[in-house]
Amino acid sequence: MHAARLLHEAKSIVVLTGAGISAESGLATFRDPEEGLWSKYDPMELATIDAFERDPELVTRWYVWRFARAQDAQPNPGHEALAQLEQWINEQTTCNDDRSFTLITQNVDGLHQRAGSHRVIEIHGSILRWRCTNTGAEKRLDELCFDQTPVPSEHGGIMRPCVVWFGEMLPEKEMIQTQQALESCDLFLSIGTSGQVQPVASFVSFALSNGARTIEINRDPTPMSEAVDLSIMGLAGEILPRVIDAIISFE
Ligand code: APR
Repeated sequence: MHAARLLHEAKSIVVLTGAGISAESGLATFRDPEEGLWSKYDPMELATIDAFERDPELVTRWYVWRFARAQDAQPNPGHEALAQLEQWINEQTTCNDDRSFTLITQNVDGLHQRAGSHRVIEIHGSILRWRCTNTGAEKRLDELCFDQTPVPSEHGGIMRPCVVWFGEMLPEKEMIQTQQALESCDLFLSIGTSGQVQPVASFVSFALSNGARTIEINRDPTPMSEAVDLSIMGLAGEILPRVIDAIISFE
């Protein structure tokens, strides 16, 4: 399998995931219609600072609901395969064979960590952390009481999720870590992302222009499908376990 061969040979792997990797855990992607309670709302309109300022109660309730969905969901074989890949790379790393693995996710659902991934950069933040709109003081979601929404902060503001909304800057520390990983990467693997949201969508072009090999695994074609070295069309939860099994069987 070509993808397995490329990953096996790589020294410095960067994986980028999007909502598509959590789809098989039952979590709706941003651009596929949601069913049920919140189906009449467009996520692209709720995930904005304007929406929060206009109607903080509605946006807070939407995130509480998304958190509950994420908590009820289980990591799927795609998440598990990436955790296995990280572990395999750590096992391969010796003083003579230095390898690195970085997982950058746009997802805020925490499923990669629950599957056992350790080195995860949450480039769009996390719904498990919330912060005061006045001071930026953070709390874990389980420390907050949602009887009153929006949730008042003890510092005079209200609490908002530590996620990156449309039009907001990406978190600085995570951007620096990402930049470092991209500069040294010799293999970039993009999974389950439509490649429509900047600046994350430009990571694959950066990796390409920096000489890295590039692979995409996605259910549907994306703007980068033609440009990458290898585009695999299909479900992450079916393809990734096969790729990882093949890597391990090269030993
Ligand atoms: N396996 C692989 N790919 C899948 C699967 C699957 N099981 N299911 C869906 N996909 C693909 C879709 O074809 C689509 O291209 O995943 C992609 C999901 O795209 P989006 O919904 O646009 O999600 P994402 O790319 O993560 O969105 C980026 O946009 O809305 C903002 O901040 C939000 O982080 C999000 C960002």
